[in-house]
Amino acid sequence: MISRRQFIQGGSLVAAGLLAGCGSSGGSTSTTDTSADASSYTLVNEGKLTCISNLFFPPFESMNESTGDPEGFDIDISKELAKHMGLEVNWLPSQDFDTLVPTIKQGGKADIAIAGMTITDARKAEVDMSDPYVDSNQSIVVKATSTDTQDTLNDSSKTIAVQGGTTGAEWAQENLPKATIKPLSTVIDAMNGVQSGLYDAVVCDLPVSKYQIKQSYSDLQVIEEIPTGEQYGIAISKDNPGLTAAVNAALAEMVSDGTMAAIETEWFGSQM
Ligand code: ARG
Repeated sequence: MISRRQFIQGGSLVAAGLLAGCGSSGGSTSTTDTSADASSYTLVNEGKLTCISNLFFPPFESMNESTGDPEGFDIDISKELAKHMGLEVNWLPSQDFDTLVPTIKQGGKADIAIAGMTITDARKAEVDMSDPYVDSNQSIVVKATSTDTQDTLNDSSKTIAVQGGTTGAEWAQENLPKATIKPLSTVIDAMNGVQSGLYDAVVCDLPVSKYQIKQSYSDLQVIEEIPTGEQYGIAISKDNPGLTAAVNAALAEMVSDGTMAAIETEWFGSQM
């Protein structure tokens, strides 16, 4: 018999192989709070795991075109997390990505933010992040007809669209310092703007750009895959360490019982 806590510590949650060619070195690592009791936590609504995200980040999260309901990789993860924790899942309306961490930190509205959110030191200073569940990298996206490169984009005549508050926005600011960086509220707005010629490029997470180009933006292309070695985690209030422990335990169970692999295949199987 191993205790649940030992099981958590032994579990490796990196969704290995999900994104071909990405290194899991670099980026940041998460630490499991081993002092927390996974059986004792608070919820904003009893019996429910209340979730927030920015629902314009396919295939991780989007809104179903006909029903308007949230759907995607992270939505499936949230449903399975709830199931493994004996809870119902409760999704709140989409909000801007840069409001997610402050909302979780403030408390009272949602239990978790699950949003393809990279584990960073800055975010870990504000909230707890779960163990990683997806590996990711950045990408530069331009029109299929464009001859721009990372070098030619780093120019005062160029405008680079990003989603505000993201690691892509940060990368663009640091690595394309001569260009104008335009923060928008969603990656979809950014891609539409490149399509219409308003902006020269988008910097965003590679799994999203790859998926979107394949699904609906055949006139765009990825010109650069940037191995940032990011990992996605779930944001939870620092006041609720038992919930972080319970989420980590549920994630570990989902890896060992095959749920995680099934969700990966569902959303990425034929794409990546
Ligand atoms: N991984 C990037 C970050 O953490 C982008 C996440 C955007 N997520 C979203 N649901 N819009 O900054």
